[in-house]
Amino acid sequence: MAVYLGIDIGTSGTKTLAVDEAGLVLASATVEYPLYSPKPGWSEQEPHDWWQATTKSVKKVLKAGRVDKADVKGIGLSGQMHGSVFLDARHDVVRPALLWNDQRTQAECVEIEKRAGGRKRLIQMVANPALTGFTAPKILWLRNNEKRNFDKTRQVLLPKDYVRFRLTGEFATEVSDASGTLLLDVKKRDWSKPLLGKLDLDPSLLPRVYESEEVSGELTKEAARLMGLNAGVPVVGGGGDQAASAVGNGIVKKGVISATMGTSGVVFAHSDEVQYDPEGRLHTFCHAVRGQWHIMGCVLSAGGSLQWFRNTLCQAEIAEAKRKKIDPYELITARAAEAPAGCEGLYFLPYLTGERTPHADPYARGAWIGLGLRHGKGHLARAVVEGATYAMRDSLEIIKEMGVPVRQIRLSGGGARSPFWRQMQADVYGQKVCTINAEEGPAYGVALLAAAGTGAYKNVVEACSATISVVTETKPDTKAKRTYNRLYPTYGQLYRSLKTDFATIAGQVEG
Ligand code: XUL
Repeated sequence: MAVYLGIDIGTSGTKTLAVDEAGLVLASATVEYPLYSPKPGWSEQEPHDWWQATTKSVKKVLKAGRVDKADVKGIGLSGQMHGSVFLDARHDVVRPALLWNDQRTQAECVEIEKRAGGRKRLIQMVANPALTGFTAPKILWLRNNEKRNFDKTRQVLLPKDYVRFRLTGEFATEVSDASGTLLLDVKKRDWSKPLLGKLDLDPSLLPRVYESEEVSGELTKEAARLMGLNAGVPVVGGGGDQAASAVGNGIVKKGVISATMGTSGVVFAHSDEVQYDPEGRLHTFCHAVRGQWHIMGCVLSAGGSLQWFRNTLCQAEIAEAKRKKIDPYELITARAAEAPAGCEGLYFLPYLTGERTPHADPYARGAWIGLGLRHGKGHLARAVVEGATYAMRDSLEIIKEMGVPVRQIRLSGGGARSPFWRQMQADVYGQKVCTINAEEGPAYGVALLAAAGTGAYKNVVEACSATISVVTETKPDTKAKRTYNRLYPTYGQLYRSLKTDFATIAGQVEG
C-alpha cells in the first residue's frame, strides 16, 4: 500500500496526515506551538518550533496509523502563507519569523508602491497591491528597521519552505505560496526580476520556484532518522494553505467556490486565466493546479473572532464543556442560536487584527455596535458569528462582480463543522452551501498533490475527482435570508463610518 504524508504548518500548530492512495485518511496528528506578539500589531513565531512540531507530528502519525515506513511514497507541504523566515550564511534563523497577520509594515507598503512606479504598475508586475501581511514589505521592514539582521540575511523562506529545507536541504518554493510574497510574476509563474530590481533586492535571497505537484527534493538521511522514515522519500512542491485547502476541497474547476473559516476566513475561486479585481481587493495568485490561477478574499479574523470571544468571555462555558466533555463552541453556538437573526440591532465588526479583504486596513479594529439593554451574551455571540460571515460575503460579492460564476459553495474549516454556522452561511450568502467528504483541509490537499506528483494519479484534478464528493447540502431559510439581505449594507457602512476613527485610535496606541 502506498501512503502519502500531508504536513500543514498552521498558525496554531502543525498537522500531519497519513493518506492512502485511494484518499482514505489513516491517521492525523497535530502539535501546537505559541504565537508571540511583542508589540501591538506584531505577530511572530519561532521557525524551530515548526520543525519540532513537524518531526513530532510525523512520528505520531506513523505510530497511530501503523504505517510501515517503506510504504511512505511521497510528502506534501502546506503552510500559513506570507510569513518570512530569514536565514544567515550558515542557514541559521536570524530572528523570529514575521507572520501573515503581522501589521507592522504599512510604511513599507507605501515604499513598495512608490518604488514600483505606482499601484497600477505594481499590480501589472505581480498581480496584487502591496498589503501589510505579504512577504516583500516584511523584507523591506527588516532592511529599514533591523539593518544588522538584514545584512546577515542570505535566504528568505516561507514557513513551509523552511520546513522543506530542514527535510530535504533544498531551498525551494512553489507557485501558489510564492504568489503571496508580492515578488512573483503571477502570470509567468516565476520571480519578477523587474520588481526585485526596483526594490533593490538580490534575487539570490529567494528559493527556486516549482509547480505544486513537482518533486522539489528528497528526504535527507538526518531528517529521515529523526522522523522514523526512509531517506530519499520525494517531497513535492505542495501549496500555500489556501491553495492546498482548495485542492483538498476539490476547487479545481470553474464555478465551484470554497468558503473556509479557520482563524482567517477565505473565499476562494478557481480561474483558468489571470483575472484581477481592478481595485485590488481580492488576491490573484497561482493555483496549486499546473497552469491555473485563483482569486481569493481573506478575512483576517473570521473563526479567530469566535476564538477570541471564547477565550476572553466564555470561561463559564469552557468549564461547563470540560465537565460535560464537549467542545465549548457547542455551548457558545447554542447561546448564539437563542438570539434572532440580525441580533435585534447588534452588529460586530470582526477586524480584531486589522483587515485585508475588502478593506486593506491594518488599523481597523473589532467592535460591537448597537448594544442595548436587551442584549445578552447570546446576542454578543451571535453578532460575532454574523459579523464574521458578513465579512466572508464581502469577498463573495466581489467575486460575483468580477463575473466569476458561483454555482456551488463548498464550506470547510470550523464554520463547516457547526450546523449553526453552516445554516448562517447559507442565509447570509443567500445560496445553498455544501460540505464534502474530506474535512482535513490543507494537509489533505498536499497529500493529494504528493500522490499526483509521484505518479499515483495523472494530475491533481484526477486525484480530486477520484477522492472528493459532496455529502451535505444546506439551503437558505427564506426569512433569515431576507433579514440578512436587509442588514448587510449597514454592516458595510459601519466600517466606512469608523475608518478615520480607527486610524486615530491606532495613533493613540502606538504614539
Ligand atoms: C492567506 C492568509 C492566511 C494564512 C494563514 O492569504 O494570509 O490564510 O495563510 O492561514
